[in-house]
Amino acid sequence: MSDPPSSDPGSEGPKRRSRFEPLPPWVGPSTAVVHGGRRPDYNAGSVVPPIYQTSTFHWPADRSESSDRAEAYLYSRVRNPTVEVPTEVIRALEGGEDARLFGSGMGAITASVLSLLRSGDSVVALAGLYGGTTDFLTDHLPRFGVTVREVSDDAARDPVASVPPGTALVIVESPTNPLLRVHDLAQWAEAAHRAGALLLVDNTFATPINQNPLALGADLVVHSATKYLGGHSDLIAGAVVGSASLIQRIDAKSYLGAPLDPFAAFLLARGLKTLALRVARQNENGRRVAGAVRAHPAVARVHYPGWGSGEEEAVAARQMRGRGGMLSISLNGGAPAAERLLSSLRLVHPAASLGGVESLASVPRKTSHRHFTSEQLGERGIDEGLVRFSLGIEEPEDLVRDFTEALDRVTSP
Ligand SMILES: Cc1ncc(COP(=O)(O)O)c(C=O)c1O
Repeated sequence: MSDPPSSDPGSEGPKRRSRFEPLPPWVGPSTAVVHGGRRPDYNAGSVVPPIYQTSTFHWPADRSESSDRAEAYLYSRVRNPTVEVPTEVIRALEGGEDARLFGSGMGAITASVLSLLRSGDSVVALAGLYGGTTDFLTDHLPRFGVTVREVSDDAARDPVASVPPGTALVIVESPTNPLLRVHDLAQWAEAAHRAGALLLVDNTFATPINQNPLALGADLVVHSATKYLGGHSDLIAGAVVGSASLIQRIDAKSYLGAPLDPFAAFLLARGLKTLALRVARQNENGRRVAGAVRAHPAVARVHYPGWGSGEEEAVAARQMRGRGGMLSISLNGGAPAAERLLSSLRLVHPAASLGGVESLASVPRKTSHRHFTSEQLGERGIDEGLVRFSLGIEEPEDLVRDFTEALDRVTSP
């Protein structure tokens, strides 16, 4: 691992947060998402953050970036007042010292990984990561002399044995994608640190409302903010949150990952205000639908956080405040049954992605894991009849009815 740069005139450091009105320490997440991005200096005193749709800012010849860091904006790739609003809200929700937003979740992940590693390093990655993350790690990192070791869900029960000494970075997702297996993040943090590695957790599925990996010992949290944080399937964004020194290493000069644009940042700030409300309903919808479909004759198995084993249930109860709105169903009838289910659902849209207000269904072999070989799919238990669902904020009864009727159609002749 390379050392952090000692001083860098292109970086802003945590000082940027001083622009925001501090919230009392006793507020809960529903309050923090509404008031967390408030600034006293918005144009004309507007309550809603204005969109600073500008690439550049007034910068007289006598201004120096290092002396005016907390006050001045130079260029929107480096820093933009609209982008700072959701950055601050997400930082506070995850409990990190600093955060950076990017133009996509993959932007956040690639910028983090590429900034932290050097040739000769080795990475340990859970096999149940988002397909794009696995693809990036295994396709690109070997070209830079970085080795990647994948750990299956079963092997991941023993984090100490999974992380050899000298590992530089460990990447974990819990619940996993798309089988919703639960891994003990505190144990993974301990194992990573014992081996001398940093632990990066993708918290997209759980959301900071249900789980805070930094509080469990992780060093960095990443999000596809495209999903629950934005919440309306209308933007692409990514986030990384951690200590000020790690964030500085990741985004010292804003060259990697590509920044979030001001309009998408405005939409993200707007979406974040209802995050806690949305996730509460999505937690309920996940629980209700998972329970309702479990015994249906078309269903071979329901994958839902905590249902993998008694041990997983105990870990989920310990580290999650809610189980989230994601579940997957393995159907008895394989690919034809999956096709029939998708075309029979009346409310649930067949579409990739997740975390929006509308329920979505996708076949991972055709969407999130479409770049995988049959061997990789088989190793991960992603069978032909597997359908992944992201439940929205609809009425629980309506979703239960839609699922039950559509599953009945799968089994009817
Ligand atoms: C868990 C997870 N992480 C990361 C990503 C990548 O995010 P984005 O699509 O915003 O680049 C995704 C996208 O589906 C995801 O599901």
